Amino acid sequence: MRQAYRRILRYVPRYRGALLAGAACVVASRLLMVYAPRLLGRAVNELADGGAAAVTAAVRTGWQFLAVSAAAGVFTYFMRLLLVGASRRAARDLQRDLFAHVQKLPARFFDRTRSGDLLARLTSDIEAVRFSLGPGLMYVASTLVLFPAAVVSMLDLSGPLTFAALLPLIAIIALVRALGPSIMRRSRAVQDRMGDLSARAQESFAGARVVRAYAKEPVEIAAFERENAGLVRETLGLARTRAWLTSGLHVLGGGAEIVVLWYGGEQVIAGEVDLGYLATFMLYVGMLVWPMISVGWVVSSFQRSAAAMERIDEIFDQPPERLTLAEPAEAPTPVRGSLRVAGLTFRHAGATDDALTNVTLEVPAGTTLGLVGPVGAGKSTLLSLLTREYEPPAASIFLDEHDVTRIPLPALRAAFALVPQDAFLFSTSILENLAQAIQAPLEPEHAQAMLAVAGLERDVESLPRGLETVVGERGLQLSGGQKQRVTIARALLRDAPILVLDDCLSAVDTETEARILARLGAELARHTSIVVAHRLSTVRNADRIVVLERGVVTESGTHDDLLAAGGWYARTHAQQRLAEAWGDLA
Ligand SMILES: Nc1ncnc2c1ncn2[C@@H]1O[C@H](COP(=O)(O)OP(=O)(O)OP(=O)(O)O)[C@@H](O)[C@H]1O
Ligand SMILES: [Mg+2]
Repeated sequence: MRQAYRRILRYVPRYRGALLAGAACVVASRLLMVYAPRLLGRAVNELADGGAAAVTAAVRTGWQFLAVSAAAGVFTYFMRLLLVGASRRAARDLQRDLFAHVQKLPARFFDRTRSGDLLARLTSDIEAVRFSLGPGLMYVASTLVLFPAAVVSMLDLSGPLTFAALLPLIAIIALVRALGPSIMRRSRAVQDRMGDLSARAQESFAGARVVRAYAKEPVEIAAFERENAGLVRETLGLARTRAWLTSGLHVLGGGAEIVVLWYGGEQVIAGEVDLGYLATFMLYVGMLVWPMISVGWVVSSFQRSAAAMERIDEIFDQPPERLTLAEPAEAPTPVRGSLRVAGLTFRHAGATDDALTNVTLEVPAGTTLGLVGPVGAGKSTLLSLLTREYEPPAASIFLDEHDVTRIPLPALRAAFALVPQDAFLFSTSILENLAQAIQAPLEPEHAQAMLAVAGLERDVESLPRGLETVVGERGLQLSGGQKQRVTIARALLRDAPILVLDDCLSAVDTETEARILARLGAELARHTSIVVAHRLSTVRNADRIVVLERGVVTESGTHDDLLAAGGWYARTHAQQRLAEAWGDLA
């Protein structure tokens, strides 16, 4: 458990001020709380003396009791404010660091992580940690002051009675030790189930259209219900164990009161203890029962948060992307944009086959490479290795003759403008989506120009608010082809030396494609470009075309070379021509 808190302890020093002031409030308020019952006892004793003077004295003591209690209340208020406030701010820091860490994780982490589970760790697990560290630690500190102070005060009044009142404490420690491990285990299970549940819901919402299209609502509801039932089962198990703990503690606390009343009553009758101080004792026992109960509660909340911290640590323990894979670091400046792939073999983590086998190709600076081949041939994989989204083996890919594994990531990625195969837009305005590509503020005219190149100017004009139109989850839904073209404009705006287009005209018709390609030509010529396509007309004018089949380069040359070669390219070309001819006839 101590191991689990290693990370969170790092956030303590920066809130030193608030924590120290809070701790001072703990000490002041608890000492005043311990002093108050003595005043009450004195008032009872003064009354027991009888007479008119007795009432005056008792009332004066009563006022003192009130003043001390009020002061204890004020300190308690500031204690909560300072300590709970510090815990909220520390949780915010933890949340921020966790989020920042996730941003730095490599693509393969996201391949095997459900975003819903990640969300649960970022929210409910962090809240569990915060709760134990804020209110939890506050109760611990409070008990640490209150308990010894009360015991000292009790010993001052009567040794034997103190001993009798504290006996049940031993039983309490035994109880907490017996139930603690089970609470810890069940807490971890609850947090895990919570992650499963939100992952399930998140995926179902993200796939809402598929769910509807295949009428899978009942299946989704049933699956959610199953996860939910799992969560309830674990939560009830945890509640049962915690209930055993709290009720056990209540019984032991009540037992302590009875022991004091019985044994203390006899002492009063025997004249060993003043009646007033028996009242003081009863107040102390009442006062100590709560910390004893809260110890159990706090222990269980610490166990719960240690489990949560473990889940948070699992993310923190993921190694971030490395700036360079091989030393020494070197970066080409300025980047001219020539690419060379030499004998590249690559297998995805967990895959049984190589996605790429001994791939060798060259893209001289300023030229355009067309990359084609059947689905699953490894085209996107090859592209992702260029920018080290996945880590390629050393000395297999060179940018301007520098091994990419030696180029620091920011410099490497700055050399590329990438249009990924899945056209993803953030749920914000088109303008802001475009601005994501560049560091400087975006000029609307510049944006318009690139949208024109991407063949989207007419579409944007017809949108309700033009470039300011919000798209995605919170706004207007663009068509697949429109989305693709926004992502093309975004990449063009970046104006990086190398332009990479992964099958990004797949959702536009042949005519629109021809129009876009005509304008894109100039842009492609200004950059080193790699264009992946299924429709061969897209890459027809490329300086060189490479055919990738099952991870192997099988053909390479110009359009005319490949037609003459009579391989996959020529066959596919003939098929696509035929299909087009049929389309024209129809
Ligand atoms: N993240 C990954 N983890 C494991 N295997 C992967 C991963 N990404 C791709 N693959 C596998 O690698 C192979 C090549 O996939 P890739 O996406 O590179 O093909 P592609 O040529 O781009 O196909 P498409 O034309 O359909 O886009 C496929 O067998 C695919 O299942
Ligand atoms: Mg692909």
